[in-house]
Amino acid sequence: MGLEAICQPRPNIYNPDTPFTNQAIFTHMLLGGLVMILAPLQLIAHVRHDYPRVHRLAGRLVVLAAIVVSFGGFIYIVRHGTIAGPLMDIGFALYGALMAVAAVQTIRFARKGDVRRHNNWALRLLVLLAGSLIYRLHYVFWYLVTGGLWSNEQLTGPFDQVQYFAFYLPYLALLEIWIRRRKVVQRMR
Ligand code: HEM
Repeated sequence: MGLEAICQPRPNIYNPDTPFTNQAIFTHMLLGGLVMILAPLQLIAHVRHDYPRVHRLAGRLVVLAAIVVSFGGFIYIVRHGTIAGPLMDIGFALYGALMAVAAVQTIRFARKGDVRRHNNWALRLLVLLAGSLIYRLHYVFWYLVTGGLWSNEQLTGPFDQVQYFAFYLPYLALLEIWIRRRKVVQRMR
């Protein structure tokens, strides 16, 4: 399969016989795009400190959109199934579950005024959101370097199977290490 094909939405996603599932997955893609634009705004300290209302409003939109994106993905997985079958279903469902949990925790701790936990969960949410881009970037680099070794059009090759989890789990693990190290350094001060 060519690199262009992996970067295109797959034609099998739309099915004229399942309008509800189509709506779920297209809402998913639309809000997914919106959240990818809005989420990085939350990292800008100047916006957080000088325009707290913008931070709060954008934060609520990001959280709500992330939850809808996750549920749109779940509906698609349950009613249609991913292109590659059960293992990809599991990888993507876990991704969606983690994203929904991170979104809820982010707003929950913000409302409680627990800034440290809010920040940590917001970072987890950002890493998960970035996963959608990282997934595609992994493919771009892999295809450029290997020409698509261990990958096929149905996304069932060994490389594809690693991808079902590799676009978010290693990055979440790295973030956890960073969060724990930062905590230790702060305690020592
Ligand atoms: C910001 C986050 C996300 C964005 C921008 C996004 C975007 C997209 C886009 C553009 C597609 C179209 C198809 C393609 O590229 O092949 C897609 C497909 C899909 N997404 Fe997401 N998505 C996000 C998060 C999620 C989450 C959290 C889940 C899990 C619940 C999920 C599950 C799926 C599934 C199952 C498909 C169909 C895969 C297949 O071809 O079988 N996505 N997404």
